[in-house]
Amino acid sequence: MRRLLLWMASNGWMRRHVPRLWFTKRAVRKFMPGETPGEAITAASTFKGQGMAVIFTRLGENLTDLKDADENAEAYLELMDLADKEGLSAEESVKLTQLGLDIDEERTYAHMASLLDKAAATDQQTVWIDMEGSAYTEATIALYERLKQTYPNVGICLQAYLKRTYSDVERLLPLDPRIRLVKGAYAEPAQIAYQSRKEVDANYLALCVSMLAAIKSGSGLFLGLGTHDIDLIHQVADHAKSIGLPRDSFDVEMLYGIRVDQQRKLKKDGFAVRVLIAYGDYWYPWYMRRLAERPANVVFALRQLLP
Ligand code: FDA
Repeated sequence: MRRLLLWMASNGWMRRHVPRLWFTKRAVRKFMPGETPGEAITAASTFKGQGMAVIFTRLGENLTDLKDADENAEAYLELMDLADKEGLSAEESVKLTQLGLDIDEERTYAHMASLLDKAAATDQQTVWIDMEGSAYTEATIALYERLKQTYPNVGICLQAYLKRTYSDVERLLPLDPRIRLVKGAYAEPAQIAYQSRKEVDANYLALCVSMLAAIKSGSGLFLGLGTHDIDLIHQVADHAKSIGLPRDSFDVEMLYGIRVDQQRKLKKDGFAVRVLIAYGDYWYPWYMRRLAERPANVVFALRQLLP
């Protein structure tokens, strides 16, 4: 089921046609407050009331026209101004292919630079770079390394299902990186990625153990746990405690609409929680990956067919 849904996420015909089905639009609301920046900001204000920070992401990926990349960058800049005006503790998470990586790497670099300048000017801590499928891993890390020379406030997502990630962490450590660790959302072959949940979880924990050791020994590394796996978060927190680090020495980052009760509970229990709010109209592949993570969501989507 997971493989089928991930294939559907990348299928061009489906990308064009499924979003037109009215019931999918209704179902997608479970994971995003709306398509407009205004709706994203309103949702963020609710989290502010609960003491939780947010990360915004404007949906889009693999664009084929540089005009769209310029438009995306401009939209992010406007959103950052809006968030600043509302006094929100906000960050952004962007995909390099939505800023033109497939077409023009220099333009992508320039767009990232302008977002990072704006983030610094509006007191936002980090602009995160999402990690896409493995065809982009090396290019994403290389661009991150370049950006980090000039912009301390750039962060990168790494995926625990990839076998290379341990050496990527080692490679980035001298840069005092800001790393969000996720399990990984794409279909990757067994040569390069762990396939079973057990192996992915074990690698996730091992990576956290090594990054917490680096933090403990004074590295400028910042760690964000991008997961809804509460057991895993507690295992990381227990390990942090055992080496004398508090539970807010890392962030916990979760997606809007997923395990909302746990988001509040973790916040109450002293964790630093951030909620990622997605918005925009290009939600199809992103939404299909959410379905693939938990096929029970397909039943929820189909139920939206009912009046
Ligand atoms: P796991 O899949 O084991 O889920 C743990 C529990 O969480 C489940 O039992 C279920 O209760 C709940 N849950 C998880 N997903 C759910 C869903 N879709 N619907 C309902 N419940 C769900 N990936 C990537 O490849 N590149 C990236 O840049 C990012 N960025 C990113 C940012 C943030 C803030 C998060 C939280 C996640 C990502 N991801 C990502 C996605 C990530 O790789 C992974 O696919 C999902 O987080 C699901 O895995 P979990 O770690 O939650 O664990």
